[in-house]
Amino acid sequence: MDAAAIRADFPILERTVHGKPLVYLDNAATTQRPRQVLETLVTFYSTYNANIHRSPHLLGQEATELYEQAHENVAALIGAQDGREVIFVRNTTEAINLVAVSLLRPESGPLQLRPGDEIVTTVMEHHSDLVPWQALCRDNGLRLRFVGLREDGSLDMEDLAAQLGPRTRLVACTHVSNVLGTINPIAEIASLVHAVGGLLLVDGAQSVPHMPVRVDELGCDYLVFSGHKMLAPFGIGVLYGRRALLKQMAPFLYGGDMIAEVTLEASTWNELPWKFEAGTANVAGGIALGGAVDLRTGRELVGAVGYLQAIGLEQVQAHEQALIERMMRGLAAIPGVRLYGPLEAGRRGAAVSFTVEGANPYLVAQLLDDEGIAVRAGGHCAHPLARRLGVAGTVRASPYIYNTAEEIDRFLAVTEEIVRRKLS
Ligand SMILES: Cc1ncc(COP(=O)(O)O)c(C=O)c1O
Repeated sequence: MDAAAIRADFPILERTVHGKPLVYLDNAATTQRPRQVLETLVTFYSTYNANIHRSPHLLGQEATELYEQAHENVAALIGAQDGREVIFVRNTTEAINLVAVSLLRPESGPLQLRPGDEIVTTVMEHHSDLVPWQALCRDNGLRLRFVGLREDGSLDMEDLAAQLGPRTRLVACTHVSNVLGTINPIAEIASLVHAVGGLLLVDGAQSVPHMPVRVDELGCDYLVFSGHKMLAPFGIGVLYGRRALLKQMAPFLYGGDMIAEVTLEASTWNELPWKFEAGTANVAGGIALGGAVDLRTGRELVGAVGYLQAIGLEQVQAHEQALIERMMRGLAAIPGVRLYGPLEAGRRGAAVSFTVEGANPYLVAQLLDDEGIAVRAGGHCAHPLARRLGVAGTVRASPYIYNTAEEIDRFLAVTEEIVRRKLS
């Protein structure tokens, strides 16, 4: 994979920051967008823009077909049966809330969560995979249980087995930690969860953009992720759900487009996936995520999924692992730097968190920014994990497809200089 060639597709990477070339290493927060994705947006708004599923005119038909095609493309990316298992939402957070709200409704029938049921999550979750379950359990008499970590930052699988039981209804677990980088063994977790009759929701926000992720191989019941962390625009994300489950589940939001028939007294629901996509959709965002084929010219509208597939998710992962290994080796050699999470690059996703002895992580991030290097600092929306690690926060550097070995070396040299100045 040629990161240098890929960079040419990302106009933002040409800018300078404080007079220095930008080194963008905050991809776990959001990635940059290639011009192909930007062009897909412009093409949509300048040639097809219309509302979907309602307008009989040609523009409306074209927009509808493109938006539906985008669902199919996402389904193909993640190994879903077809686009009916792919619901477009705003982001990972909304996808998780959708499942939580739907499973509380009586209309979900045997799937409905009831007082006394148990939800299991882990101490390494992002707040978006913790707070919705907290609120659900608090307000509805369910118990929330937590799986702990081993010292190396991996999930404690013995603890997981101990937290599961006959009352377990759902386990919500991240695939890759946004702080530790840990890759969790989802297929193994799925077997354990299914053995007790529970459902498994996987937070793929930090995995789907970075490695091949197929729901048929993971064996999960739900997979959620955000477009903005994988080259697509803000405001578009995905809930994958097994079709049989989605069919049984009550809708999340009620309103237009999600209905089949409406009388003053009652309504029936639309087919999948539209039953879960109430109201006017983010049509342009959906197409820019999934890509489609331009109906008039036959030209492929690449979309983020098409862009990543053209590179190959195996290649994306291999490229990132080489950068992560370089970064971790370099950071480990700087006195006073402490790394968090598994130390072998092969066991991690694309986020590296570290602290500098005696230095506030925000100050370190600020000093890096002075040199044009964008990283994140703080609790990374995972405060219970920071508490478990015994830190107020960490600095997090997260590379992506367009980062180069030279950029990692520059990041390491500047970090070393910051540490030397700070500690001497
Ligand atoms: C692991 C993980 N889960 C969930 C989220 C939430 O994503 P969003 O803010 O797009 O809903 C993030 C974002 O940083 C994340 O890293």
